[in-house]
Amino acid sequence: MKTMIKISVGLVTATLLMTGCVGDTNAKSSSKTEVVQTISEESLGLRKTDLYSEDATVSTKTEYRTAQATTSSRIQRAFQDAPPMVPHDTTGMLPIKIGDNQCTGCHMPEIATAMGATPIPVSHFTDFRPKHKMVDGVFAKAVDNLKNEVSIKQNEQLQGARYNCSQCHAPQSQGNLLVENTFQPEYTSADGAEKSSWSGTKLTESLDTVIGGPSYVTEEDLDNSESKAGVLEGAAH
Ligand code: HEC
Ligand code: HEC
Repeated sequence: MKTMIKISVGLVTATLLMTGCVGDTNAKSSSKTEVVQTISEESLGLRKTDLYSEDATVSTKTEYRTAQATTSSRIQRAFQDAPPMVPHDTTGMLPIKIGDNQCTGCHMPEIATAMGATPIPVSHFTDFRPKHKMVDGVFAKAVDNLKNEVSIKQNEQLQGARYNCSQCHAPQSQGNLLVENTFQPEYTSADGAEKSSWSGTKLTESLDTVIGGPSYVTEEDLDNSESKAGVLEGAAH
């Protein structure tokens, strides 16, 4: 009841305000008040050169680092477990092709330490793709989503999903930023600016949504007629 009263009072006020406004505009137009432009068209964009001519408008050159691998210095992670940016020159290495991936030549764990390069981490040797099976030559899903089946396999081989390194690890260009980035990372581990924390049990963290057991839709779930979200009719697959 209280809310109803409040709403009606609000409506009355709004109506009064609107009528007031109309009266005001009429008064102004009759007294010929001029509208003064306070924001110039030129000040709206980020561009600081003439908006009406392209002649002097050249964007900042994209300049990647030129220090060769083994002589560059690593770049701080943007946030905890962010893919580190490539700190060294990649001339002649990109694009990565089938049969031509120079990145693995230095970064595979068995060589990396000797090269002074960071080894490709365990996550890149882990298969996160859902289990599948072939039925009569046709791809079929082999997990039951309702049982919360998670399929993660650690592998000897670099996973195909990680083969194209530059899809996630980009070289960094150091241009003049039009707008400064003021983002401040808060790492969850003390050495988060330099290191990944994503290994061991962390790899499966929060994937098992029903810790300790499989998840099934129960009779109770199906009969959730009290739920505001509605009833799970026909939810049992
Ligand atoms: C000649 C060996 C070599 C090759 C080829 C190479 N790297 Fe590197 N990489 C290094 C070394 C060594 C470092 C450590 C920084 C340094 O000493 O320059 C490094 C650092 C990195 C880092 C930063 C790691 C961190 O911990 O911050 C990334 C990411 C990276 N490389 C990705 C790549 C990618 C992607 C390619 C292929 C396009 C590649 N690298 C090719 C040797 C190599
Ligand atoms: C699908 C995205 C993706 C691809 C493709 C990928 N990476 Fe990564 N990489 C990541 C992420 C995310 C991290 C940080 C979390 C982690 O360590 O798993 C990472 C971490 C790394 C690290 C730092 C490991 C550490 O312990 O600090 C190296 C080195 C690296 N990757 C190299 C490579 C190389 C070389 C390739 C290509 C063979 C590659 N990555 C392909 C996403 C990717």
